[in-house]
Amino acid sequence: MDPRTFYTDHWQHIDDERVARYERMFQWREGGAALLADADLQPGQNVLDFGSGPGFMALALADMVGEGGHVHGVDINARFVADAKERAVGRANVTFHHVKGQLLPLPDGAVDRVVSKNVLEYVPDVDATLAELRRALKPAGRIHLIDSDWGFVLLEPWGKAGVERFFGAAGVAFKEPHIGRKLGGLLRRHGFRNVAVRVVANADQDGHALPMLRNMREYIRIGGLMTATEADEMLATAEDAVRTGEYLFALPQFVATADI
Ligand SMILES: C[S@@+](CC[C@H](N)C(=O)[O-])C[C@H]1O[C@@H](n2cnc3c(N)ncnc32)[C@H](O)[C@@H]1O
Repeated sequence: MDPRTFYTDHWQHIDDERVARYERMFQWREGGAALLADADLQPGQNVLDFGSGPGFMALALADMVGEGGHVHGVDINARFVADAKERAVGRANVTFHHVKGQLLPLPDGAVDRVVSKNVLEYVPDVDATLAELRRALKPAGRIHLIDSDWGFVLLEPWGKAGVERFFGAAGVAFKEPHIGRKLGGLLRRHGFRNVAVRVVANADQDGHALPMLRNMREYIRIGGLMTATEADEMLATAEDAVRTGEYLFALPQFVATADI
């Protein structure tokens, strides 16, 4: 794979083993609804879930908008879209779309809400994407973005230097690894009003993040800045630390909400 386009290629081509891992990682969990609170989701609304992946959040959104509303899930990975369609069989209020470029398969002003979780760090041109998301919103619409910022990771026992080394080596997987801190400024620049940003952080002390960290071995291999042996040794220290109780992982989520 070409390291220059890996940030998007690694979503377009996912092998079966990684699809299974992502499906476990992206399950909709208790507590997810708190991340959506400011989106003000109501029965009867039309919602776009941009970068809907295997579809778990889109199905939760469909429950929130009810039979009178509709959710459009959009993703660049064909397998995720096919699996999401399977999951949605019998649900008339959710449609999943496979997209290849930056254009959305929706007319202007089609939705009341745009929701997107952990996607904007991977898009080739965030300004083009935001313009397109804005185009899809109704005049009274609201956008609600949830994104990580890989400059705010804590992982014990690695310390600051270890965190910077590991996530720097995995940086090839992201177009904009610091998207979280930029969301508010981007929304204002795109003309959105009432921009509000909050930061939500949980402390993982049980190793829930380890599958996501192991998934980064492939990113590190492509990036070529750290050997597989060093990555495995670092991962082993994190796994050992779960057993000894020294492990702690935090990746704050930046939640940005704005009106059109
Ligand atoms: C980290 S996953 C998040 C999935 C889901 N939103 C969630 O939170 O569970 C990122 C998702 O964004 C999708 N994606 C990446 N670039 C995209 C793009 N340019 N357009 C649409 N989807 C994209 C990927 O295929 C993947 O499903």
